[in-house]
Amino acid sequence: MDKFVIRGGNRLKGQVAIDGAKNAALPIMAAALLAEGPCDISRVPALADITAMSDLLGELGASVEHADGRMRIEVRDESNSHAQYERVRKMRASICVLGPLLAKRGQARVSMPGGCAIGARPVDLHLRGLRALGAQIELDNGDIVAKARRLRGTSLFLGGPFGSTVLGTANVMSAATLAEGRTVIESAACEPEIEDLADFLNAMGAKIRGAGTPRVTIDGVEKLAGCPHEVIPDRIEAGTFMVAAALTNGEVTLTNARLDHLMAVVDKLREIGVNVEPSAGGAVVSSARRLEPTDVTTQPYPGFPTDLQAQLMTLLCLADGNSVITEKIFPDRFMHVAELLRMGADIRKEGPTAIVTGVRRLIGAPVMASDLRASAALVLAGLVARGTTEILRVYHIDRGYERIEQRLNALGADIQRVSE
Ligand code: EPU
Repeated sequence: MDKFVIRGGNRLKGQVAIDGAKNAALPIMAAALLAEGPCDISRVPALADITAMSDLLGELGASVEHADGRMRIEVRDESNSHAQYERVRKMRASICVLGPLLAKRGQARVSMPGGCAIGARPVDLHLRGLRALGAQIELDNGDIVAKARRLRGTSLFLGGPFGSTVLGTANVMSAATLAEGRTVIESAACEPEIEDLADFLNAMGAKIRGAGTPRVTIDGVEKLAGCPHEVIPDRIEAGTFMVAAALTNGEVTLTNARLDHLMAVVDKLREIGVNVEPSAGGAVVSSARRLEPTDVTTQPYPGFPTDLQAQLMTLLCLADGNSVITEKIFPDRFMHVAELLRMGADIRKEGPTAIVTGVRRLIGAPVMASDLRASAALVLAGLVARGTTEILRVYHIDRGYERIEQRLNALGADIQRVSE
């Protein structure tokens, strides 16, 4: 298992290119199961989760080739439609294959995902949506077993206690492309990753309107063809590098970043004193002074993303006063708090809220990565902490950021990856 050894205190300066979005690429890869013929997807990042999805698609009869950001997926054999526990346990996004398998093959068996480090994470809304399309779904030996001769379009409501569901919307929207008649999804997730998936499906021949809004209309078609597609830039990775620039009083130019996907984040960063200037294909992010505290609540898109909550917390640990962070998507997503406390942060947790009192400095310590974004927050903390920070279990960060240490080092950071 690798660990990171970070010597803090360096100012980050330079340019970094943002990768394609993991959370757009994963449902897009799963949706390639719907196509007759090859799909050529570009800007697919080289990440552990992408490899896991490639392996799963391989088991489901697709050939997957991935090199230099380009991926070709072609289904060769439709006889196995079982996503096994071993796969789903390692990556929850495996649930994305449920809708495409059901719609294309008339059946699917997908292991029920369990909880994970960020909370319980049920899939009841995915199942409710697919049932509304006429699927018969039951649980057998820990697997979701779904069947349907042909799905039927209908109007359905996909909201839940925490708002919309991103992968639930992906599953139902993908399945509805091959349903008979019109499907209208109300309270659909509006995330850019859903819009990207709809663009991919439309390029395959689907008829989807309204993706990116709470009402998505899908007119079913008989079949879908392979097509090329370029994945959108990763807004969470861009936001993470923005925080890195702000924390180190640096100046970082992001290229291949979509500021229009980051409005809530840019607004918050500007409010606390970070400079964010749009530039060709991205932004220049800099900061030259101690930041102001703020209040922030995570929300579905276009609100402030839960996937940047931990990173913003690290930034606010060094602001000049008290900040309040409320997590409305995954109320237990605070695994980073205990680790930041080990580095000298002053954070008090009250239910889904964290009260962060800014300190003058963080101090290096050995800490443990627990999930992807919590790990990113710890790497950021290590960049500014006095002394050396060791981050154990960095495989969590490799799931979502390609060569993060090399890219931060190119900006002036001092991070070593050490194999234990
Ligand atoms: N929910 C339900 N029932 C469901 C589905 C979701 O109650 O059937 C709840 C969840 O428990 C949560 C809320 O609804 O409280 C939103 O969950 P959502 O379904 O939107 O999450 P997801 O689709 O499973 C994706 C991302 C996450 C990201 C969330 C929220 C992927 C592969 N994952 O998960 O990304 O945090 O949307 O934006 O796209 C990450 O990249 O680190 C990550 C965890």
